[in-house]
Amino acid sequence: MKYNQDVRLVSLRPKGDDRGKLIAIEENTESLPFSVKRVYYIYDTTPNVVRGKHAHRNLKQLLICTSGNCTIMCDDGVQRVEYTLNWPDKGLLIDGLIWREMKDFSKGSVLMVLASDRYDESDYIRDYGVFKEELLK
Ligand code: TYD
Repeated sequence: MKYNQDVRLVSLRPKGDDRGKLIAIEENTESLPFSVKRVYYIYDTTPNVVRGKHAHRNLKQLLICTSGNCTIMCDDGVQRVEYTLNWPDKGLLIDGLIWREMKDFSKGSVLMVLASDRYDESDYIRDYGVFKEELLK
């Protein structure tokens, strides 16, 4: 296949003491195996909405629900797997041609995304039929 496909949950190690917890993530490490060119976050999400519904040709992302919880559905064209992000020490790494949908956002949740590239609409596949066709290439 022409494209990468990799989805992986990663544990981010908190540095905790009696004041609370802190998580530091450095680029080009096991939990973040790429350089970060963009950060964005999704918040104040309308109840019951489903976001995403697209695949990326090349983008790598690390998704972290820094507050509250949400569900990320990842479809590699063969199977669909749902990941619950419900704590800031859990990250979901998505690399390459994976159809993803984000849903079940709890009230007040914040989904932060660290991405390997700047926003580029030409990297998106927003049509599920086109996604399935690309998988055959
Ligand atoms: P959209 O792709 O619909 O978000 P999601 O995948 O979470 O459903 O993006 C919403 C809008 O924000 C759309 O107009 C594109 C814009 N946008 C940027 O300008 N930069 C970005 O990094 C992202 C992710 C989106």
